[in-house]
Amino acid sequence: MFKYNCLNNIAKVGLDHFDKNYVAVDDLKDADCCLVRSAAMHDLDLPDSLLAIARAGAGVNNIPLDKCAEKGIVVFNTPGANANGVKELVIAAMLLASRDIVGGIDWVSTQTDNENIAKDAEKQKKLYAGHEISGKKLGVIGLGAIGIKVANTAVNLGMEVYGYDPYISVDAAWNLSRAVRHVKTAEEIYANCDIITIHVPLLDSTKKMINSDAIKLMKNDVILINLARDQLVDEEAVISALKIGKLKKYVSDFPNPTTVGQEGVIVIPHLGASTEESEDNCAVMAVQELTDYMENGNIKNSVNFPAINMGVCDKAGRIIIFHRNKANMITKFSACFGNAGINISEMNNKSRGDNAVTMIDFDSEISEDIISGLEQIEDVFRVRQIV
Ligand SMILES: NC(=O)c1ccc[n+]([C@@H]2O[C@H](COP(=O)([O-])OP(=O)(O)OC[C@H]3O[C@@H](n4cnc5c(N)ncnc54)[C@H](O)[C@@H]3O)[C@@H](O)[C@H]2O)c1
Repeated sequence: MFKYNCLNNIAKVGLDHFDKNYVAVDDLKDADCCLVRSAAMHDLDLPDSLLAIARAGAGVNNIPLDKCAEKGIVVFNTPGANANGVKELVIAAMLLASRDIVGGIDWVSTQTDNENIAKDAEKQKKLYAGHEISGKKLGVIGLGAIGIKVANTAVNLGMEVYGYDPYISVDAAWNLSRAVRHVKTAEEIYANCDIITIHVPLLDSTKKMINSDAIKLMKNDVILINLARDQLVDEEAVISALKIGKLKKYVSDFPNPTTVGQEGVIVIPHLGASTEESEDNCAVMAVQELTDYMENGNIKNSVNFPAINMGVCDKAGRIIIFHRNKANMITKFSACFGNAGINISEMNNKSRGDNAVTMIDFDSEISEDIISGLEQIEDVFRVRQIV
């Protein structure tokens, strides 16, 4: 029986994936694993019983990742679970920036006492006319979970799509429509595209990647869409480019004092992943990650330990050792088993930065003495036995 605690409300459709072997507890101190959305965990006491934390969402800055790693607590997130929600908002952003739909709606809302509204609207509408997106060239920077969906949907909407991602994963490449022109440089996007949308993570290397130099390389009248993070774009440079008519519109999902109220800027109040479906998808993925870890020790989508998977645990014994990524660790583990005359059936070792995981299957159960011997090895954070 595993005990889980929810630090925030988690969608029921996700919690329904816990079977009868799981029971909810009200207090984190009683939990083997927990689910969280935005609750701040930095100042919480993490009990020794806690094996895993699943964040139903992508960002993990509310969780003390290093402290968790040193306690052997695996932290999961749910990348891509909200990708469809963001993709749909990107399509809306393209339409809102191409035609002045918001301006038109705003005008209608001022006409509540106008008996001639139907006739006047026919005169007024030319002020809000715009362009269709079909046939336009769309540049997608970053072809991950969201970028791929945007690119493929845009192809289906009749757009000519250019995609740029120097680190595209094999999975992503398989899922990308063949109609997407995969370009090797961001400059090719700038030189060719009418609408540019950015879907990269915020890293030192991507901060302000859309800056005045990039904007200079763009065609005139470009629509720039940023539903990823505001710091990816030098927004002062964007406002200047809008003022001189170099850029046509800037759509951002991140209100801030630089952009709010500026001519040519459409600011959305961070609605990208704010859909019931995205929240449901995140909850389901978070619970699936937790249950596979609790029952089999498999790790997928962790942000502080590497992915590792040895399938369903059907051997007599399986242990997972969390340790620092250092030389000679495996030799020390093997010595513990060799000295006790225990044969290793299968073993896997993976690392991620400073941390590593070693998963071992045995044909016999492993005694408490061996577990405590492993725990005493320097740089071992935790040893967990799946029983
Ligand atoms: N508005 C919202 O509510 C919302 C919701 C979810 C995600 N996001 C943002 O969207 C971003 C993308 O999300 P995702 O789920 O698609 O992430 P992802 O990790 O699946 O994809 C990111 C892609 O960017 C690529 N990339 C990295 N550096 C690059 C560079 N310099 N040039 C081009 N490509 C580069 C990576 O190779 C990867 O394929 C997230 O980092 C997050 O900031 C926003």
